[in-house]
Amino acid sequence: MTSQTVLVTGATGGIGRATALLLARLGYRVFATGRKPDRLEELRRQAGDRPLETLLLDVNDADSIAAAGAEVERRTGGRGLDALVNNAGYGLIGPLELVAESELRGQFETNVVGLLRVTQQFAPAMRRRGAGRIVNVSSVVGRLVLPFQGVYCATKHAVEALSDALRMELAPFGVRVTLVEPGPIRTHFAETATASAAGYRDAGSPYAPAVERYERTVRAWDARSPGPEAVARTIARVLRRKRPRARYVVPGRFRAAIWAVRLAPTRVVDAVLRRAVGLTPRELARPVGPPVPR
Ligand SMILES: NC(=O)c1ccc[n+]([C@@H]2O[C@H](COP(=O)([O-])OP(=O)(O)OC[C@H]3O[C@@H](n4cnc5c(N)ncnc54)[C@H](OP(=O)(O)O)[C@@H]3O)[C@@H](O)[C@H]2O)c1
Repeated sequence: MTSQTVLVTGATGGIGRATALLLARLGYRVFATGRKPDRLEELRRQAGDRPLETLLLDVNDADSIAAAGAEVERRTGGRGLDALVNNAGYGLIGPLELVAESELRGQFETNVVGLLRVTQQFAPAMRRRGAGRIVNVSSVVGRLVLPFQGVYCATKHAVEALSDALRMELAPFGVRVTLVEPGPIRTHFAETATASAAGYRDAGSPYAPAVERYERTVRAWDARSPGPEAVARTIARVLRRKRPRARYVVPGRFRAAIWAVRLAPTRVVDAVLRRAVGLTPRELARPVGPPVPR
């Protein structure tokens, strides 16, 4: 058991929710945050008598972050957090030639700018106290790139870069920064991502057959993937480790994919990925089937 205080962003679903519940079960005082009051209330009820409190926090809204920060200060008697889990985020699918600027900006706003905003709110108290933990939920696509997920991959590459710099900057103040890099995990993530692909599957889209195939692949991965508890357990392990590593891949088998992509010639990696998603002239000429069942 521990009396440490931890805040989790994006706790209304998937990995964030599983993490908030697990940490509360382990005795952490958890501030589970999100932008949907009804989902937060449901989470509060589900936690029962565990030490889980909820706060509204939209990572895209600076005022909401400041308000959550003030509330944490008040509820902890000015001490602040022992740990912050930056988890809120989402992914889009779309050929880069066609992705709308608003979608591009939206992804960066939530996954990158939002993460740094929240960090800037809560890191100063950790630095002043000379202790703290920051866990940033990135992705295996923070270290490799998949076609049709270029924008999402770019945001997670940015999260990796910010985390690497932050780790070095905060180390002398006793604050440890760790990346958790999930592979496919069964949450609402795939649903959000495949819904965003709808427009690129329409008749007339030059990428339609490949996007359709990609969507089927994402759904198949999703069905075979571990649940969000696997990532929650890794995050809990990171928080308990005296000297956590810089990054943790979950499930661990995806480390091999990261190394394979790193070691193989780019030409070979491109050919394998293009074939896998149907980015070949032959596949692109194929007629598109009915919408992928949900
Ligand atoms: N699942 C995977 O396969 C996978 C793989 C690698 C990395 N990840 C990463 O894991 C993290 C969690 O994703 P998930 O799989 O748990 O997906 P999820 O089930 O869709 O949950 C995403 C969570 O983020 C929240 N969120 C989105 N925008 C937000 C905002 N502006 N402010 C506050 N909260 C916001 C969502 O809240 P609402 O309910 O309000 O939308 C939801 O609680 C993300 O950073 C994702 O990139 C997931």
